[in-house]
Amino acid sequence: MRTTRIVEMLEVTEAAALAAGRWMGKGDKHSADAAAVGAMRHSMNDLDISGEIVIGEGERDEAPMLYIGEKVGAGGEEIDIAVDPLEGTNLTAYGQPNSIAVLAFAPKGTLLHAPDTYMMKVAAGPVAAHAIHVDATPTENVHAVAKAMGRSPEDIVVCILDRDRHIDLIAEVRQAGARIRLISDGDVFGAVATAIEGTGIHLLLGIGAAPEGVLAAAAMRCIGGQFMGRFAFRDDDDRKRAEAMANCDIDGVLDMDCLVATDQAAFIATGVTDGELLRGVKYFGKGSRTHSVAMDASTGTVRFIETVYKTGDEPFWVRRE
Ligand code: FBP
Repeated sequence: MRTTRIVEMLEVTEAAALAAGRWMGKGDKHSADAAAVGAMRHSMNDLDISGEIVIGEGERDEAPMLYIGEKVGAGGEEIDIAVDPLEGTNLTAYGQPNSIAVLAFAPKGTLLHAPDTYMMKVAAGPVAAHAIHVDATPTENVHAVAKAMGRSPEDIVVCILDRDRHIDLIAEVRQAGARIRLISDGDVFGAVATAIEGTGIHLLLGIGAAPEGVLAAAAMRCIGGQFMGRFAFRDDDDRKRAEAMANCDIDGVLDMDCLVATDQAAFIATGVTDGELLRGVKYFGKGSRTHSVAMDASTGTVRFIETVYKTGDEPFWVRRE
C-alpha cells in the first residue's frame, strides 16, 4: 500500500515537471509555475486520498490552486501534503540548474503549517546531523561539520542563497575557511544536497522561504540528515499568520520534531532542469523522460527513478541514461 502511494505521488511530481519543463528558458516564470501547479493539482485530485495542503502556493486569497488549507484527492487516507509544484521558477524560466517539482506527505496533523514567510535554516547530511545548530555561529557550524566529516574546514562546501541579506554570512563562512556554492534560487535542493554524497555540498546556511524549509525537513527526516530553522518574520502580519497557523512555538527553534512530527513522512522530487541531484525533463518527440528521487521514512528507502512516457503509438527504443 505504502509503495503504491509513493508511486502515485511520484506521478504527481512527474506531471508537474513535465508541464513546467516546456517553459524552460522562455523567460516566463509565471507560466512555468502555473503549468506545474495545474498539472500537480489535476493528478493529485485523481488519487484516493483525503489530503490537505498544509504547505502550498500561498494562502487562499492569493492562490487559486493548491492554496494552504485546500482539500485534495477523491477521498481516502487522511494526509498532510506540502507542495512546491515548481521550486525555482526563475531557474526554469532562464534554463538554469536544479529546479524541481516537489512534494512531501505525512499522516494528518504531522507537518508544520507554515505561512509564506522567511526562515533561518541550517541543514547537513547524516554524518554531521548531530553537529549543527541553527543558533550556532556560521563558524561553529562549519567547524562542526568539518570535524564530523573528518576534514578540514577548507574541504567543506556551504550552499548559500545569493542575497544581500547574506553578505555578513558569506564573509564569515569564507573567514572560517570553507568554500561556498552560491545559488540564485532553490534552497530545497541546497538542503537535500547536503545529504546526498556526490553533490559536493556539505552544509546549507541562510534565510530562505519557510514553506521550502518544511519540504527540506521532510527529506531530511527520510534520509537521516538534520534540518533546523527559526522563523524570520518580515513584519507583524507574518507573525500573526504564523500564530494562527503553526502547530508549535513560533519563537522557538523549529527542530525536526516540530517541522515533521512523524517517522512516516515521504518526500518526492522530479527534476525540471538538469542539476547535481536530478536530471531535468527530456522531450524526444516520441516520448519524454523524467528523473526523480522518492524517499520514504517508513521503509527507509531512497529510490532514484527514471520514467519514460510514451506519447504516441509508435514504438521506440528505451535508452538507459
Ligand atoms: P520560487 O518561489 O521562485 O520558486 O523561488 C524559490 C526560492 O529560491 C526558494 O528556494 C528560497 O527559499 C526562496 O525562493 C528565497 O526567497 P527570496 O527570493 O525572497 O530570497
